[in-house]
Amino acid sequence: MQFTRRSFIKATGASVFLPAIIGRAWAAESGAPLPIPEVMDLSSGTVGELTAQLGKSPMLQGVSTETAGYSQAYLGPVIRVKRGETAHLKLGNSIDEPVSVHWHGMHIEGDQDGGPHSPVNPAEVIDAALDIDQPAATLWYHSHIMGRTGAHVWYGLAGMLLVDDPEAADSGLPSTYGEDDLPLVVQDRIFGSNGALVYKPRGASQMMGYRGNEILVNGAIRPEASVPAGLVRLRILNGSNARIYNFGFEDGRTFMQVGTDGGLLPAPASMSRLTLSPGERAEIVVDFSDGAAVRLLSGPDNNAPMGGMGRMMASPQSDANGVFEVMRFAVNTGLTAKILTLPNTIAGAPVPDFGAPVRRRRFQLNMMGGMMAGGGHAMSINGQSMDMAVINEQATRGKTELWEIAGDGMKHPFHVHGTSFQMLSNGGRALDPAQIGLKDVVLVDGRAEILIRFDRTADDAAPYMYHCHILEHEDAGMMGQFTVV
Ligand code: C2O
Ligand code: CU
Ligand code: CU
Repeated sequence: MQFTRRSFIKATGASVFLPAIIGRAWAAESGAPLPIPEVMDLSSGTVGELTAQLGKSPMLQGVSTETAGYSQAYLGPVIRVKRGETAHLKLGNSIDEPVSVHWHGMHIEGDQDGGPHSPVNPAEVIDAALDIDQPAATLWYHSHIMGRTGAHVWYGLAGMLLVDDPEAADSGLPSTYGEDDLPLVVQDRIFGSNGALVYKPRGASQMMGYRGNEILVNGAIRPEASVPAGLVRLRILNGSNARIYNFGFEDGRTFMQVGTDGGLLPAPASMSRLTLSPGERAEIVVDFSDGAAVRLLSGPDNNAPMGGMGRMMASPQSDANGVFEVMRFAVNTGLTAKILTLPNTIAGAPVPDFGAPVRRRRFQLNMMGGMMAGGGHAMSINGQSMDMAVINEQATRGKTELWEIAGDGMKHPFHVHGTSFQMLSNGGRALDPAQIGLKDVVLVDGRAEILIRFDRTADDAAPYMYHCHILEHEDAGMMGQFTVV
């Protein structure tokens, strides 16, 4: 496969709604070991290299799947950076169309942000420098080219990024990477009868966001993680284009949420279900000390105009309630359980200090009503579709604002570049304990209010974006750009 616009569009002939089961050349077997991504540690001046490339991935049995990744066949390494340092990277692109590396959740200047105005063109190499000054957090990176983000992420141009904060090093949380501290990039995908990834958003599947019928974690179908008989920290990224997960364990066990998009929570919050919309992250700590194997489940996702239309979407094989398997955990008593209890408070967790807002803005997300720059119908925000040549808003650095976001039709995961915000309300309901943490995506349930402030700047040449993180909505124009001066 050439990774060209044309080959993306006509990758396979399978129908979106009825993936070919008959005559397929592969089997989707679950239970392979959870792949643990390699770590690219950029602390202490190490210069990393991240090159967008095509690859072949053994996702299915009996066939290899053409994918894309950053310096690997699918997805990218887990990048670690340290607060107080500047992280350096060489960004390359061996694919024949422009890609970018957007640092989702990073508090960095607009010209470091890797958004649509900062492409890495084919065969180009760009030196990137990221000034890291924000609390310890689980972030991610992905390609963010105007109109192409959905395809790029679907084929694999995404990865996790961890900010380490020397001041939060003694939080008492499990932190041995790959043992009791596991990255989980959760995605849904559709495979055609030839084993190729199918990405054809149009009509209803563009309107509702493109969803898949197979669940992958770190690129493997419903894998199995081997964990010690103690506390294990799971850093979960919803790296799906459109699917909203409602995670829970098969045995109903409770777990502790210890982090949100923008950092750790001041105290662990106990829960048995966790909702994550596209782009959102959560850090949870799960107790496996009883030694029992358990499955992580999710579902159903009925996010669609008039609810019921969600059933038209591609969906994993599920029980009568729409619940399906995400992955499994098996306890290995040969592994050392290093952490057995959690602290009551988490040292080094950020304390939001937004103060009173000095101005309000309102964002109305519209599934219709916009016009594409070149003409034609598009999605929009405040009646305007994303136009690379138009700056929609101008914010002032260091000033707290109250943003009200209203969504029509369905729930929209609204994301803002360049900072983290604090939720004030959502859907007219009181916030969950875990929603008091710093966020950069809010799943807008009718109407949400956030407090937001920018400590970095972005100019006309490289503005920040705000957009719906259902990537088909973003690509269809539900995005705007703003400067911070
Ligand atoms: Cu995760 Cu504008 O992006
Ligand atoms: Cu972002
Ligand atoms: Cu949306």
